[in-house]
Amino acid sequence: MFTSATIDFTDKAAGYRELEQQLRALLHGEHDFIASCANTGALLWQALPDLNWAGFYRLMDGQLVLGPFQGKPACVRIQLGQGVCGTAAATRKTVLVPNVHEFPGHIACDADSKSELVVPIIKHGALLGVLDLDRPRLNRFDAVVQAGLEELVAVLVTTLE
Ligand code: SME
Repeated sequence: MFTSATIDFTDKAAGYRELEQQLRALLHGEHDFIASCANTGALLWQALPDLNWAGFYRLMDGQLVLGPFQGKPACVRIQLGQGVCGTAAATRKTVLVPNVHEFPGHIACDADSKSELVVPIIKHGALLGVLDLDRPRLNRFDAVVQAGLEELVAVLVTTLE
């Protein structure tokens, strides 16, 4: 059984390093994308304070399709270039949004969301999907959080077949 110790994020960078170790242990030996996304999302939901949505969209037939997530039911399909997720997918770069109401084309799946971070998932040059995190307060993501989550996505990617 996997048990996750509560992480202290007073030192955010240290907190994300601890979370990375937990994720490595959680995903060890598993190579299935859906299973690993599901467990990654559950770990993030449990460990990170102040989230109202955490989950994945997979690239399928040229569009993003809802994958494993925690939070309220969400929009199922997002076109590349649309919203925060579609922008991260199209540019293949992390998109950090301090205030979703100021992001042109933001797709409001959960009215509680106020800030958002979307990290593309890329393996061997191929886009597999995105990790999407929403918080119900403004300015809840910063460069340290972004770096921490990009590292967690890198750990996820290394486990995939
Ligand atoms: N806000 C996202 C849509 C996905 S939900 O937040 C779960 C976007 O603009 O792409």
